[in-house]
Amino acid sequence: MSDNHDPSAANQRLIEDHLGERARVYGTEQAVLVAIGTDEKQVEGDLNELSLLAETAGIPTLATVTQARRKPDPSTYVGKGKAEEVRHLVAACKADVVIFAHALSPAQARNLEDALKTKVIDRSQLILDIFAQRASTKEARLQVELAQLTYLLPRLRGWGHALTRLGGGIGTRGPGETQLEADRNKIRLRIHALRRDLKTAHRERALRRRRRERSPLPQIVLIGYTNSGKSTLLNALTSSHVRVEDQLFATLTTFVRRGEISPGREALFTDTVGFIRNLPHDLIPAFAATLEAAQHADLLLHVVDGSSPMANLEIESVRNTLEQEVFAGETETPQQLLVFNKCDLPCGEPDAAKVSADAVQISAKRGDQLDRLKELIAEQLDDHASWVTLAVPFAITDLLHREAGSRDGSLQHLSYDDHGAIVRARLAPPQLARLLKAGATIVAPPRE
Ligand code: GTP
Repeated sequence: MSDNHDPSAANQRLIEDHLGERARVYGTEQAVLVAIGTDEKQVEGDLNELSLLAETAGIPTLATVTQARRKPDPSTYVGKGKAEEVRHLVAACKADVVIFAHALSPAQARNLEDALKTKVIDRSQLILDIFAQRASTKEARLQVELAQLTYLLPRLRGWGHALTRLGGGIGTRGPGETQLEADRNKIRLRIHALRRDLKTAHRERALRRRRRERSPLPQIVLIGYTNSGKSTLLNALTSSHVRVEDQLFATLTTFVRRGEISPGREALFTDTVGFIRNLPHDLIPAFAATLEAAQHADLLLHVVDGSSPMANLEIESVRNTLEQEVFAGETETPQQLLVFNKCDLPCGEPDAAKVSADAVQISAKRGDQLDRLKELIAEQLDDHASWVTLAVPFAITDLLHREAGSRDGSLQHLSYDDHGAIVRARLAPPQLARLLKAGATIVAPPRE
């Protein structure tokens, strides 16, 4: 399809033009990273993560700068003196871009570009850029583009200065006000179109999900912080080959694979996008595919990188996102199993031992303790299933057999009438919910 007929390509040009220079990072660039805070360990963790994010985007880190301050300076984020120090450092090590570990306001970004005389981006922009490089489904691409444009809109004005790549050079004047207004309008129109396209994409995904829901196999969803080893574990549990990379966000779409949890007993395993602390708010919808898979799981495997020095923080961040974004307002949530991965490496933080006391310790890479993990999965799935007596209309007999008939002895027919059957079935909560939704009703068990 030619660019002229493809609004997404036209929009991409919009981003690549005078806006793109500020919004994106390029594999040829090298960075200085800056973080502030009063908790040294936290600042170090922020910088490590930022450096891994930069590496994922193809950008090596030349130097890092920290400042011990509780609150950012409203105009330049770091203090004026520190900004001067960063400027010298950038010049000395010939960095192309300065990346800040936290979100910058549009005004801060603009002031910093003026002060540092180089390109300035923040963590959100870096994450957006990685997402843009990697989004592989139509829906993920639409979500990322929407997030990029929403992020760009209030920042348009500031990006006339210090263009280096487009032949502008430092001090080049930005596009005129009329051009800016025209760009803003183009972006608003595109945002509107993206929202509409996303609605269609959501509907298509709901349809695919319903097809999957009809499967009688239990659905196990792997969630966890980015880089915790979810894809490696999925491969190990299902003997398949999902791409595994030592990079953040290698998985941007969800994968579903079939695997055996005990001889002859199968389940569907779904890999999901990794969680990350302080995810830019506009990007949360880009996780929708993952979040939705988690909502319909029979069991969530929360995979933790036990070797990470931030393991506790990462567990907390996943739990918070689940509580606040995925299961907000839900009364019934799937059961969870905490899986401490990478146990072939030394434990990342002393406290992790406390948290991991009730978790299973595995090494997905070496295959250690995978049988134990499968046993626990089977136990959890069984524990949660309970016996219930149901009136089931004939019209949904097939569904009943798919949900309850997959294991020996978990379905007993008690009686029949003109409308359907009274049965006793051993069902997990999501299976019961699906039957009730389809028209089954719970009845009092008949007296013996
Ligand atoms: P995202 O897609 O970013 O969410 O990552 P993920 O959680 O799917 O992690 P992935 O499986 O891609 O693994 C990340 C890195 O950790 C890779 O380099 C793996 O080889 C490594 N890894 C995974 N499991 C283990 C393990 O048990 N031990 C060790 N030492 N490394 C592991």
